Amino acid sequence: MAKASIGVVGLGVMGRNLVLNIERNGFHVAVYNRTQSKMQAFLQGEAAGKHITGSDSYPALMAQLEKPRCVLLMVTAGSAVDAGIEEIKPFLEPGDILIDGGNSYFMDTERRSLALTAEGLHFVGMGVSGGEEGALWGPSIMPGGTPEAWQALAPILRKIAAKAEEDGEPCVTHIGPRGAGHYVKTVHNGIEYADMQLIAEIYDLLSRGAGLPAAELAGIFDEWNRGELRSYLIEITAKILRRTDEITGKPLVEMVLDEAQQKGTGKWTSQNAFDIGAPIPTINAAVESRILSSLKAERVAASRVLRGPSPRFTGDRAALVEAARAALYASKILSYAQGMSLLRIASAEYDYHLDLAEIARIWRAGCIIRAGLLGDITAAYRRNPALSNLLLDDAFRQAVESRQAALRHVLQTAIGLGIPALALGSALAYYDAYRSERLPANLTQAQRDFFGAHTYRRVDQEGIFHTDWE
Ligand SMILES: NC(=O)c1ccc[n+]([C@@H]2O[C@H](COP(=O)([O-])OP(=O)(O)OC[C@H]3O[C@@H](n4cnc5c(N)ncnc54)[C@H](OP(=O)(O)O)[C@@H]3O)[C@@H](O)[C@H]2O)c1
Repeated sequence: MAKASIGVVGLGVMGRNLVLNIERNGFHVAVYNRTQSKMQAFLQGEAAGKHITGSDSYPALMAQLEKPRCVLLMVTAGSAVDAGIEEIKPFLEPGDILIDGGNSYFMDTERRSLALTAEGLHFVGMGVSGGEEGALWGPSIMPGGTPEAWQALAPILRKIAAKAEEDGEPCVTHIGPRGAGHYVKTVHNGIEYADMQLIAEIYDLLSRGAGLPAAELAGIFDEWNRGELRSYLIEITAKILRRTDEITGKPLVEMVLDEAQQKGTGKWTSQNAFDIGAPIPTINAAVESRILSSLKAERVAASRVLRGPSPRFTGDRAALVEAARAALYASKILSYAQGMSLLRIASAEYDYHLDLAEIARIWRAGCIIRAGLLGDITAAYRRNPALSNLLLDDAFRQAVESRQAALRHVLQTAIGLGIPALALGSALAYYDAYRSERLPANLTQAQRDFFGAHTYRRVDQEGIFHTDWE
């Protein structure tokens, strides 16, 4: 029997769907799973009659593979990846390619990459976005590693990746060396957190504030999805708002407990941005909003004693809805400006040589943040690959400038009603800070010098100064 093009270890939700995707695209896949009964169920179920063959051990898996052998690990991130690498390594030869397709922490990928490269192996840390459906029908794929490994994997990855509607191009590219793929996947997830939080705050303002019922909001989001806000997250928001609870007959979204969970990639984005000195206040606000939401019991108790304004809006609803649309688009641009700028700073810090136009291009389809906006971001970085901030591109500068009044109006309304808007507020504050020639950091420096003799620099002369302020 002909050898398999690739071996996949780990037949969980993502592993199984990726295997089916690879096979559907014309490749023979060999598979292995720690719990063999799950592998047998897969082989006899969804994989029956397909070019998918099982293995009962790592040596048996390796024996099925073409050389150089490509093995894709789709196991739980963390110690399972280290365990898998140690178990497979004795059966690999120099030139073989080991791929970790899970949501690994990029510093773990850096460590694994250095260790395996020293042994003559190629290690690819590969971010995969799009969830279960994406894995099956076409995810956005972010592989890091050596150019040689990319050359070997590209024929498979280009086939299985999502294709952008605009030009049919596959949503995959060689991201960069070592942990670059997992780094970019982490930032993708950070941006995803921010996108979701901005939408949630607009929903809160229009629902709790303006009193719009879920069904009406569903129609509004549907309409927004036909314009500049066109994106997967807006599309699913409309579907969620339309869904009725079978038990109570109410909108199902209103029956969902308001405690947002997280698996850590948003937090990693914030932590890393602090480490490398990149301002991403909207992503940070999104992570913090999830943390705040998780304090449900405390919030319930506080809601009985802490007073604020009535959240009832009495103004022009139609005007607020239109302002909300423009504010959401402006704040989304401001959030992407932060995320892309984080990538630019990280690229220099870690020597990743990231191509921001390529990264925006492969986020146009397959992944959770896919949106019409990403085509425009691709174009902006193609016009000027050295763009230091998306806001300095003429088209984006104008897009935010022409919508800033709407964003300010929406925030003033939310503040007046006492509806929290951490992410929307942080997006506007980022804009106002970034465009300020002078910030109050002069006072901060003076205070630091006052209490800690930390010194300061002057605006009118070179040198380091200290004052005895009292
Ligand atoms: N689900 C998503 O939407 C999504 C999207 C993007 C990325 N990811 C990432 O993709 C990876 C896989 O996710 P998933 O959703 O497919 O997970 P899953 O359904 O929980 O499956 C986990 C797989 O890992 C295997 N495994 C766990 N610990 C192991 C160990 N110590 N040794 C060997 N095998 C072990 C399991 O084998 P057994 O059957 O023997 O337990 C199973 O095959 C994760 O890193 C996840 O974060 C997931």
